[in-house]
Amino acid sequence: MCGIVGYIGHREAYPIILKGLKRLEYRGYDSAGIALFDGNDIKLSKTKGKVADLEEKVGKEIPTSATLGIGHTRWATHGVPNDVNSHPHYSNSGNLVIIHNGIIENYESLKKELIKRGYVFKSDTDTEVLVNLIEDVKKNENIKLGKAVQIALNQVIGAYAIAVFDKNKPNEIVVARLGSPLAIGIGDDEFFIASDASPFIEYTKNAIYLEDEEMAVIRRDKGVKVRKIKDDSLVDPYVQELQLNLEQIEKGGYDHFMLKEIFEQPSAIRDTFRGRMLPNEGIIKMSGIEDNMKTFLNANRIIVIACGTSWHAGLVSEYIFEDLARIPVEVEYASEFRYRNPVITDKDVVIAISQSGETADTLAAIKLAKSRGAFVFGVCNVVGSSIARETDAGAYTHAGPEIGVASTKAFTTQITVLTLIALRLARAKGTISSSEFRHHMIELELIPEKVKKALESDAYVKTIADIYKNSKNFLYLGRGYNFPVALEGALKLKEISYIHAEGYPAAEMKHGPIALIDENMPIVVIATKKGHYEKVVSNIQEIKSRKGKIIGIVTEGDEQVRALADHVIEVPETIESLTPLLTTIPLQLLSYHIALMLEKNVDQPRNLAKAVTVE
Ligand code: M6R
Repeated sequence: MCGIVGYIGHREAYPIILKGLKRLEYRGYDSAGIALFDGNDIKLSKTKGKVADLEEKVGKEIPTSATLGIGHTRWATHGVPNDVNSHPHYSNSGNLVIIHNGIIENYESLKKELIKRGYVFKSDTDTEVLVNLIEDVKKNENIKLGKAVQIALNQVIGAYAIAVFDKNKPNEIVVARLGSPLAIGIGDDEFFIASDASPFIEYTKNAIYLEDEEMAVIRRDKGVKVRKIKDDSLVDPYVQELQLNLEQIEKGGYDHFMLKEIFEQPSAIRDTFRGRMLPNEGIIKMSGIEDNMKTFLNANRIIVIACGTSWHAGLVSEYIFEDLARIPVEVEYASEFRYRNPVITDKDVVIAISQSGETADTLAAIKLAKSRGAFVFGVCNVVGSSIARETDAGAYTHAGPEIGVASTKAFTTQITVLTLIALRLARAKGTISSSEFRHHMIELELIPEKVKKALESDAYVKTIADIYKNSKNFLYLGRGYNFPVALEGALKLKEISYIHAEGYPAAEMKHGPIALIDENMPIVVIATKKGHYEKVVSNIQEIKSRKGKIIGIVTEGDEQVRALADHVIEVPETIESLTPLLTTIPLQLLSYHIALMLEKNVDQPRNLAKAVTVE
């Protein structure tokens, strides 16, 4: 997965592309490159490393007068991250230059054919194969670039968002997408290309999101022409007015996106239920649910599919759906589900959860479920994302852009949406009374203020981080609704601090993990008053007698755990089903501070990328 940016218009392309690449670094950051047309020729610069390294390398060499260019920030799939494998890639003649986000699965057979025809390859990438395939088609058929791209893409198996231009036709850029996102910003006689709208939001609010299997020829003089790649038919594209603003995208005064996103949770959660929940009137309305109420009410079960943090939110939803709406739920890793032979019927409702809406495994699992007759409902954050479009209906989380690779506000807003859905279905099924229904809504409405309160523990959590930052292992324990929170806390710590951590249901401890406990092991135990409190207190006693270091996440005013634990972090009281929205907050902060103290790259942890668009 990678970020792509392009510009064609009347301004200097370099600063626009460079800034755009910086905003897209969350999509990949192992190498970066840029190609500009300086009026005579293509000027290309690329390097292993981050966009800042590219900026340094490019220095003064770049022609500031160029008004056409493309840029790329990479997360390697084929070929190790190095200068040669970085994008853009030239065709053999040097006439064409391309950037690509995705994977060409049949690149080896295509490459063999091209080698037979005399093509030579400098890199190990599938992308260099694609640009030469386009060149080969163009040369053999003596056709325009747009047509050559179309014919070449019809020979390709895989996923792509590409932008390509020809130095002999420097008035146009050709773009196409299948499985990787591509947005075109429409300005006044200028056009922007990007993996999402953030690189061009300050220039235009009008954008076209290409659909899968669509391509566009973007001409300085004639604008954007969109076609279907398969049958060449013209498409009348929908020009969307964007609601994003730049402030939402930038760090807003915080040192890191992750910290900003942690502190945004009160407003993000409020945005999630805003307009959907009216406690005073006793109403929850979500069009995706209302329109498909019959399907939900007739469902034999719900199957939740997701990956990573979204899978943890799915696990929380299992408790909520079963508790409130009495619908059986199975929660599946999308990557396993897609390759099993799952029993799915048209009586199943599948809920696919994804922040990015681009996760390849989740997308494939959705396609499988649909092909077997299930109704698929999406819970996504990114509007217009592939998963949002592939599902039969859905509900957005409205969390705003999440740039930090470690999911934080995505998790809490997913739980919020899933709670709303469960409550709505519970009411429709009559599995909760109207007073319980209203009580849940009132409690949910109070959550943003309570999250704010939980965030006040930041300074104290930092002191705990300082004590345990050099630990080699951590255990996270929770029961019931807080078991998935324990998993999520461990994932957060692992992914940004590279400390080994395991999440367990607290009662499982004695079936194995207890052997790990000694005086060097910090154990984070979620022990809120609502939810198996006495049982968890017993677990804490077991840890204490083995000299483990206990960090308790407790309800405000708790005395019992305080007397046993080495440290306690308080969160406000709420109803049991909503505790994950509060208990996850100190765990996010703990991993953030530990990673920072260990001088790790909090927003861009090694080996990870924000949207995993490859399997
Ligand atoms: O965009 P998605 O929610 O589909 O992403 C799923 C996972 O890749 C993601 O949650 C990942 O686990 C995060 N880095 C966790 O912080």
